[in-house]
Amino acid sequence: MDRRHFLTDLSRLAILCAAAPSDWRLITRPRWVDDPFTLGVASGDPTATGAVLWTRLAPRPYEVDGGMPGPRTAVDWEVADDEAFTSIVRRGRYIAAPELGYSVHVDVEGLAADRWYFYRFRSGEAVSPVGRVRTTPPDGAQTPLRLGVASCQNYEQGLFTALDHLARERCDLVTHLGDYIYEYGARENAVRQHRTVEIRTLEHYRERYAQYKLDPALQAAHRMCPWLVTWDDHEVDNNYANDVGENLMESADQMRIRRAAAYQAWWEHQPVRVPRARSWADLDIRRTTNWGALARFWMLDTRQYRDDQTCGDGSKVVPCGDWDNPARSILGMQQEEWLIDGLGASASRWQVLGQQIPVSPYDDLAGPERRLYMDGWAGYPHGRDRVLKAVAERSANRTVVLTGDVHSNWVHEVHAGFDRPDRPVVAAEFVGTSIASGGDGEDQWRQVPESMRDNPHTKWHTARRGYMVCDVTDASWTTTYREVPFVTRPDAPVTTASVWRVEHGRPGITKG
Ligand SMILES: [Fe+2]
Repeated sequence: MDRRHFLTDLSRLAILCAAAPSDWRLITRPRWVDDPFTLGVASGDPTATGAVLWTRLAPRPYEVDGGMPGPRTAVDWEVADDEAFTSIVRRGRYIAAPELGYSVHVDVEGLAADRWYFYRFRSGEAVSPVGRVRTTPPDGAQTPLRLGVASCQNYEQGLFTALDHLARERCDLVTHLGDYIYEYGARENAVRQHRTVEIRTLEHYRERYAQYKLDPALQAAHRMCPWLVTWDDHEVDNNYANDVGENLMESADQMRIRRAAAYQAWWEHQPVRVPRARSWADLDIRRTTNWGALARFWMLDTRQYRDDQTCGDGSKVVPCGDWDNPARSILGMQQEEWLIDGLGASASRWQVLGQQIPVSPYDDLAGPERRLYMDGWAGYPHGRDRVLKAVAERSANRTVVLTGDVHSNWVHEVHAGFDRPDRPVVAAEFVGTSIASGGDGEDQWRQVPESMRDNPHTKWHTARRGYMVCDVTDASWTTTYREVPFVTRPDAPVTTASVWRVEHGRPGITKG
């Protein structure tokens, strides 16, 4: 039997047993009825010689397996110097598999440093949209960086207008700090409805990612430049801690099953260079990315390894419960050591902590009592101070913390110990608001004006929607807060709400 007859027989067989599990079949020239590239393209985790290119075959994204018929399917990829693809510099073939949701993760190598490229995918006659990707500067280079920062995009609560604006900011890189999806079910008065109830299975997490990925603004922002992505709680379950769920309805074993489904779906839908785990319930996503010698990004995971929140998840008067126990950690001891050792070893000009939740405390109770957000680093004061001690000793005033989670903008000077205001400022924390979570938002949280005096490290705060753009050079770090006035109806304009600057090696943050 020659090869062509064998393949013809295979394709006949593919039709006969389309519904059967079929790990060994491969379709090299699929005939598409519907466009398989409905979820767009993305790139991420760039290096000086490459990046990860992502797509997922999903011709009917709301169906099981995205409407794919069962066999493995070939996807060709191309990287070119130009948008017309007349000068192709790398190409190859990837086999998309049903057990990984037909996701495609191409780890391209062999590109030139500090260069923009264009990429696209083909499968049969179908061609994907074109994405832009760039490599990082070479080792030793202090090339400036323009960085976008986004987080918290609850699809139900608002339109992704801010991402549309972010896509036009000419960023080199975007970091997304989590709450990329939300796990809960449709609510009344939602701007846009989720299709299912609270999600727990792999099939449903895939469907939820597909719903978000269909958004044209999200696709546009991914096409613009490579992303560095981490997760927060809503990629699994609100405020979960390690294997403890939000409502304690699930046992630790059930939470691990849910985590496995959620972590796998996250991996399938993000342009990340994260090795597949032996068990999806334990997916180690912490990693570093260097922007030449200018900046080292530490992408952290404050959810998977943390001790459970003490005395509840919300704002609590401290001390309470186990709050003051030195054994508690938000990163987990292993990740804490990895970060502390790494900060000492890194010669990068700036150390950037890309992570989920506020490192700086905010006492929102005016007067002598302190009320703190127990889901943030403020709920784990000893673990936080171990990290800040290392920052003080190893990378003082060349460390910037980037934070999401709280759906509001905050500028905090980070002290080497928050219980003693005389401890020196050693870092800057820029907390970015949400893309859509919380709907239109408000100018300020109600308790802020009265409590501001109790928080001298806090320089500024608003609670509208938007994102940050950071312009980084060897001499300074400038964060521009960009805001949209509404997300519950289309076409909001974007404005600059505030600009903040850190001089390399000098404590403090100045406005302007
Ligand atoms: Fe959020």
